[in-house]
Amino acid sequence: MWQPKLIMMNGELMPLEDARLHPLSLAVTYAATVFEGVRAYHLPDSGRFALFRLDDHLRRLQVGMKLMRFDGGYEAEYLTECLTRLIRANQPDTDAYFRLLVYIEGTGLLATTGPIGFTAAVMPRKTPEFAATGMSLGVSSWQRLADNASPPRIKTTANYVNARLAAHQARVDGYDGALMLTPDGRVSEAPIACFFMVRDGKLITPSTDSNILESITRDTILTRYRELTGEPAEVRTIDRSELYFAEEAFLCGTGQEILPVTSIDRLPVGNGKVGPLTDRLRQDYFDLVRARTSDHPEWRTLI
Ligand SMILES: Cc1ncc(COP(=O)(O)O)c(C=O)c1O
Repeated sequence: MWQPKLIMMNGELMPLEDARLHPLSLAVTYAATVFEGVRAYHLPDSGRFALFRLDDHLRRLQVGMKLMRFDGGYEAEYLTECLTRLIRANQPDTDAYFRLLVYIEGTGLLATTGPIGFTAAVMPRKTPEFAATGMSLGVSSWQRLADNASPPRIKTTANYVNARLAAHQARVDGYDGALMLTPDGRVSEAPIACFFMVRDGKLITPSTDSNILESITRDTILTRYRELTGEPAEVRTIDRSELYFAEEAFLCGTGQEILPVTSIDRLPVGNGKVGPLTDRLRQDYFDLVRARTSDHPEWRTLI
């Protein structure tokens, strides 16, 4: 497996082990950081990489920088050029995953707004565990953050304290993963992925007022479900008790891709096996990201 040798800070390539950030920076002290994870799928026929929905990731990053009141910012074109330089410099020969972080590297008090800096890293990322067999979820007693407290809609590092607490509770309790509820007890999302379920044959996912990240993969699934079935999915609040009526369920996200869920709170989802709709949507997703279909070429940035 290839290993990255070079990382980029503020546009400059350097050996991975030379990357440094001041411990008193606002990035470290107050988690004043927004970030994105972007997958680059290796296309064996051409040797090129398809970055999936890069423009959408960079758009979300821009809103994050704005909401966090960062000084200045970085143009999407510039960041695209940086990611291109980084992947070429590291010469991966299989799928790769980018992590792009923008933060306040300046030191100071809480409301300091700059100077800002960025780090881009590229690394190998395997197919997540449980992708083939399905995973167990436990409903967490940690509530998902509220929008008017620490908005889950933006991908800020600070939100992952909440996510880690839920992930660790799930691990201690013997589940493969956690599912979090909103403060009023509706289904929200998993620590690093969004949630879908199937009931009476229909695909359902929590609406964006359920304190979720506006996930790009969720949008891909909603779009493809409509295109494949001719029907829109149901996007609405989901009560906790409705989880136990699910015939199928899965998590989705850039890093997690599509992960079937086969039990929730130790109760089987449907027959406890990976469901047919989940399987179909998963295969379709991999055809899209790996450019095995000509559909949605606008979602793939080729480098
Ligand atoms: C909290 C959370 N929800 C959902 C997702 C999925 O988002 P996306 O599909 O944009 O990667 C992620 C992954 O980044 C996440 O961290």
